Amino acid sequence: MGALCDRFGRRIEYLRISVTDRCNLRCIYCLPACGIKWLPREEILRFEEIREIVRVGIALGLTHVRLTGGEPLIREGLAELVQMLAAIPHLEDLSLSTNGVLLSRDARTLARAGLRRVNISLDTLKAERFHAITRFGAVSDVQAGIEAALEVGLDPVKLNVVVMRGINDDELVELGRLTIDRPLHVRFIELMPIGDFFSRERLVPSEEILACLGALGELWPSSGPGGCGPARTFALDKAQGTIGIIGAVTQAFCAQCNRLRLTATGQLRPCLDDTAAVDLKPALRPAIDPGRLAELVQQAVEAKPEQHSMAQRDAGTPRFCMAGVGG
Ligand code: GTP
Ligand code: 5AD
Ligand code: SF4
Repeated sequence: MGALCDRFGRRIEYLRISVTDRCNLRCIYCLPACGIKWLPREEILRFEEIREIVRVGIALGLTHVRLTGGEPLIREGLAELVQMLAAIPHLEDLSLSTNGVLLSRDARTLARAGLRRVNISLDTLKAERFHAITRFGAVSDVQAGIEAALEVGLDPVKLNVVVMRGINDDELVELGRLTIDRPLHVRFIELMPIGDFFSRERLVPSEEILACLGALGELWPSSGPGGCGPARTFALDKAQGTIGIIGAVTQAFCAQCNRLRLTATGQLRPCLDDTAAVDLKPALRPAIDPGRLAELVQQAVEAKPEQHSMAQRDAGTPRFCMAGVGG
């Protein structure tokens, strides 16, 4: 296996794959209420195409793959893709980021297919507030999904909380408390300036999040539950789970960036914060060309910018939707 390095000496080992741009929710920080125009089906990568991209990526040096969306569980036959990817030699980690709504239906099938672990969005525990944030969802469905994930042995189970001032910042202590009695790993994420919802007032800096969580007791630095993301991890005394802080804006972790993102239509994006992309389609259709694919993956790695500029931005980037790149 090779080692993929970019111009700044960062080792690229993690591919986040959006398997659909569609979602069964419309979170206020992610999608407009009216939704977006979904992409035509024939443009969406087929499972065989995704498998080939992962194969080529692994030969070049990738070791970790995460399936995202939109909402990945609404892609028909997702477990089949999981099985195809899990069978590829040298893939060390296969994970999923989901809103959890359909997870109680799918957790067992996914675990059997070879999924190792799952990250679930959960911004609030309050039913009405959940409905207000997601515009569609029922928090009880997500809670059932979390239980199902634990029950079938997906491990670790991480919960993602996007912190928004005036919306859910009064619930951080209660959410952090979930880590005490169960092996749940709650990560608090700074709101990123992407899309119309963002404003500087809504952003709660990670130092403030940490100070607020201090009400739970001493937070000890912890090695965390494993993974390859940017969370700083802590644990409460005797807690079964951990608390993670993702300072996406105020504590940019670009110097440690290790990832590429594949959109549902085969655009390989060097950076979350930039719509620039390398189109892999010419190496996939009409026929798959692994040599050309490898060249294009290298090209995306070389195009990685040194860092994003989110900390300097006062408003969200318009016409850019997080659902297209899976967070
Ligand atoms: P693991 O630690 O391996 O579980 O993965 P992860 O934390 O990368 O996965 P997840 O999909 O749960 O992502 C958590 C959040 O981290 C995302 O929602 C983003 O808010 C943030 N994030 C992930 N990747 C990037 C990145 O490249 N840049 C920035 N600024 N934020 C990111
Ligand atoms: N800021 C921070 N996190 C976001 N996510 C989606 N949009 C944003 C945003 N603007 C998160 C979701 C999910 C993850 C994949 O991306 O909450 O946990
Ligand atoms: Fe769907 Fe996730 Fe976006 Fe919410 S954040 S609308 S669950 S893609």
